[in-house]
Amino acid sequence: MELSASIHNRSAVVGVVGLGYVGLPLLSVFHRAGFAVIGFDTDPAKISALLAGENYLKHLGETLVSDMRNTGRFVATSDMAMLAKADAILICVPTPLGKHLEPDLSYVEKTADTVARSLRPGQLVVLESTTYPGTTRQIALPRLEKTGLKLGTDFLLAYSPEREDPGRKDFNTQTIPKLVGGIDALSGDVAAALYRSAIQQVIPVSSAEVAEAAKILENVYRSVNIALVNEMKLLLGAMNIDVWEVIAAAATKPFGYQPFYPGPGLGGHCIPIDPYYLTYKAREVGLPTRFIELAGEINHAMPQYVIEKTMLALNARGKAVNGSRILVLGLAYKPDVDDVRESPSFALIEKLTELGAAVDYNDPHVPATHHMRKYGDLGMKSVPLTDKSIASYDCVLIATHHKAYNWQMIADHARLIVDTRNALRDVTGRRGHIVMA
Ligand SMILES: NC(=O)c1ccc[n+]([C@@H]2O[C@H](COP(=O)([O-])OP(=O)(O)OC[C@H]3O[C@@H](n4cnc5c(N)ncnc54)[C@H](O)[C@@H]3O)[C@@H](O)[C@H]2O)c1
Repeated sequence: MELSASIHNRSAVVGVVGLGYVGLPLLSVFHRAGFAVIGFDTDPAKISALLAGENYLKHLGETLVSDMRNTGRFVATSDMAMLAKADAILICVPTPLGKHLEPDLSYVEKTADTVARSLRPGQLVVLESTTYPGTTRQIALPRLEKTGLKLGTDFLLAYSPEREDPGRKDFNTQTIPKLVGGIDALSGDVAAALYRSAIQQVIPVSSAEVAEAAKILENVYRSVNIALVNEMKLLLGAMNIDVWEVIAAAATKPFGYQPFYPGPGLGGHCIPIDPYYLTYKAREVGLPTRFIELAGEINHAMPQYVIEKTMLALNARGKAVNGSRILVLGLAYKPDVDDVRESPSFALIEKLTELGAAVDYNDPHVPATHHMRKYGDLGMKSVPLTDKSIASYDCVLIATHHKAYNWQMIADHARLIVDTRNALRDVTGRRGHIVMA
């Protein structure tokens, strides 16, 4: 295929559909490797920002987009007819859950239909969105074949899961090893060649289904292990044993143990969502996914546990949640990023507000709330964090351990602190007002 030669000499044009946390860094990696790139997104605000040289994903660095723009090898557009210009099309659109925890593949379906409209001989299409095994073959392939073009002779189709971890410093899109599985052997080979030209290590697997299932296994593994330590937190807490010290002690074993940490609940686009894709698909073969569902049950119960600990802590000080002023620290679901998707902080704010508390939040990375599928827009703004403001709350609830926080200052001035992250482990002085949850 001509595509192999144009990948080799970097004359192939790489298109990325969906320029979010996954698509934008992927686009920049191919750009850095010397390809001309076209970024596609249906969100006009993202396209205008990119055309103005602005990067809306701060953790990727201020100059990421302006650097690309200055080379003349970068286009950003909502015009999907431009897909015809791309030789390789990498799809990075969302794969959320519906109301009943069922996979919502509508973005993938819509994108496959859009790609089909301008599909031409010689194109390679790769799905990167996380999904259940079989999606590429069962959802994308029939839509592309409807055009009359044939897989293998006219176009190629593969799956390559994204393992992006926004905010991570030791690995990035270019250095995270990349799995690639084709719908047929040629698709797998050409897709692997494309990724090899931009990414340090590419691991070909025998099919798209293996690559799809491997990604889900990685996320189920995290979800189950986080549920295990969350359960240990409850159990050891009841025995007056510090779960954090126990985990640190267990982690001294040099083999056979990997530490996971408890928290106020799961967050992010992946771990709370992806395992349910497999649960859904498992029904097709009549098998239960007991580990996944149990882990989901335990992890989803965490915000309620934190609320109960907060209620008890206030009660011990003669106060009810109703009428108390509570400050939630951290709206992002993990430290040092601005990603609030599925963040348990929203469940905490919602539950505390329902109980009659006056809730504020502070997050140095999230100046204001914005519209979210589940919660709408809470219309809240991050409140300033000063000695005085901290002291004015009945309770400070630590949901996210951002590095920017001065924990000693917070501990020195708060009246009561509920800590879900062991953020206060190193503070000195009085500790009687700290409650672990
Ligand atoms: N965020 C992560 O850390 C991460 C890690 C690994 C895998 N993933 C997976 O990658 C996929 C994308 O996730 P994300 O975090 O980048 O999502 P995101 O919401 O940040 O980005 C998705 C982008 O796709 C755009 N989009 C939606 N429909 C479109 C369409 N029809 N055509 C063009 N653009 C469209 C949206 O406007 C948005 O900009 C998901 O399947 C997710 O599970 C995410």
